[in-house]
Amino acid sequence: MELITVKDKQFKPYIGEDKIQSAIKGLAVNINIDLRDEFPLFVIVLNGSFMFAADLLKEVHIPCEISFIKVASYHGTSSTGTVTELVGLAEDVTNRTVVIVEDIVDTGATLEKLHAILIKRGVKAIKVATMLLKPDAYKKPIPVNYAGIEIPNDFVVGYGLDYDGQGRNLKDIYVLA
Ligand code: IMP
Repeated sequence: MELITVKDKQFKPYIGEDKIQSAIKGLAVNINIDLRDEFPLFVIVLNGSFMFAADLLKEVHIPCEISFIKVASYHGTSSTGTVTELVGLAEDVTNRTVVIVEDIVDTGATLEKLHAILIKRGVKAIKVATMLLKPDAYKKPIPVNYAGIEIPNDFVVGYGLDYDGQGRNLKDIYVLA
């Protein structure tokens, strides 16, 4: 097994490109059916979701709009618990069905914050799409409607996810060795 080094830590291969892509296709099939009459606004949560969002949205074939929001909660390999909005959402989301597009749902602190921001701005409905879900860490009541792959409470990098800013460009997902 080939270990890789990201910054000062070693990671081993965990989820390969093929598995990632087929999980995404499965999510898109459901989104295309469920939201076909909704003209949804996909809100991509930067930075980590950029790769997942690009691949997912290439498979979404219903009329939709796409926008971005930037939040941060992680430092190194653990969540700080405090989520800060770094770049706000420009669109009017009143009465829209909004799909939050996340790279990973861990404790759900980020999701909870986004949910609150969107509710305050008068959305009609909120759906959540995430590439990865850590079910053992996620204890919030907000439903995760579209989860690509469920993983245990391990720290992963690649496919948009970083360790201290690095490793986002990796095509596959790696776990701390
Ligand atoms: P939460 O707010 O605890 O759910 O964490 C969500 C955010 O933390 C994600 O959008 C990621 O940016 C980051 N994160 C959570 N788990 C990991 C991980 O295993 N690797 C890299 N980043 C992670």
